[in-house]
Amino acid sequence: MTTEFAEQTYDLDLLSGSQDAWDRSEGLRFVYGEIYRGIRARCSTDGAMLEIGSGIGVSKAFFDNLVTSDVVKTPYVDRAISAYEIEPDVGGAWANIFAIDVLHHLKQPMRFFESAAAVLKPGGRIILVEPAATLGGRVFYSLCHHEPIQPQLIVPSFEFEANGPDGEFANMGMGVGVFMRNRELAEALLAEWGLRCKEVSFQDVFAYPLTGGYSKPQLLPTIALQGLLKLEQYLPQWFYRLFGLRMVVVLEKI
Ligand SMILES: C[S@@+](CC[C@H](N)C(=O)[O-])C[C@H]1O[C@@H](n2cnc3c(N)ncnc32)[C@H](O)[C@@H]1O
Repeated sequence: MTTEFAEQTYDLDLLSGSQDAWDRSEGLRFVYGEIYRGIRARCSTDGAMLEIGSGIGVSKAFFDNLVTSDVVKTPYVDRAISAYEIEPDVGGAWANIFAIDVLHHLKQPMRFFESAAAVLKPGGRIILVEPAATLGGRVFYSLCHHEPIQPQLIVPSFEFEANGPDGEFANMGMGVGVFMRNRELAEALLAEWGLRCKEVSFQDVFAYPLTGGYSKPQLLPTIALQGLLKLEQYLPQWFYRLFGLRMVVVLEKI
């Protein structure tokens, strides 16, 4: 699909394939279920919750009070909401806003944070789950995923040009580029919009790739993936900083 306007940096035709994979793979549903539970555990205040870039909108089953959205209205989501112009909830500010695998598709990630901060309740949180450009992540995604992972290109002023066909943009190094390599500067910018960084952590090493993700077949029975994920809880952060495939960032509105 040709991108319809500058903000649409992700090929929405991929979503029907994602829906097929979701329906087919019990392991994928289980591992994502754990990711959604992790997000829920990190929410602060009660109230309406917004997901940005919901894709096929499967998150809806894991939360009460969730509004799903994407950059254009699709059959999968409740509303069209741009990451750069987030509207408040009908009842006022949002209690929590989350996004999975969206930040690395944003050509202007700081504009997203400014927009989210403006519609968040005091004490409300932005929770992001992103690919992690750790040593393990760089090897894994370079071999198994089509999008580039180049944290060295994530530099101030954090504004990027399209790097794919039809105006698409992806850099899976975004999370590490902003929140590890340029953390001090990023925190100073976020503070201008009243956001404080509460957490940057790393996770997911064995079970997640063995689900096959959205593009490959599940490689282990679900019961084995469940056991692996349980074991992963005992691995230390230093290990995940080296080999984790995902990272979680939590920002709080002061
Ligand atoms: C890799 S998909 C992730 C989908 C879903 N969150 C998931 O975990 O499966 C990236 C999503 O971000 C959305 N997106 C990209 N740019 C956006 C923008 N400027 N505003 C809102 N959503 C955007 C895309 O349309 C797509 O649904």
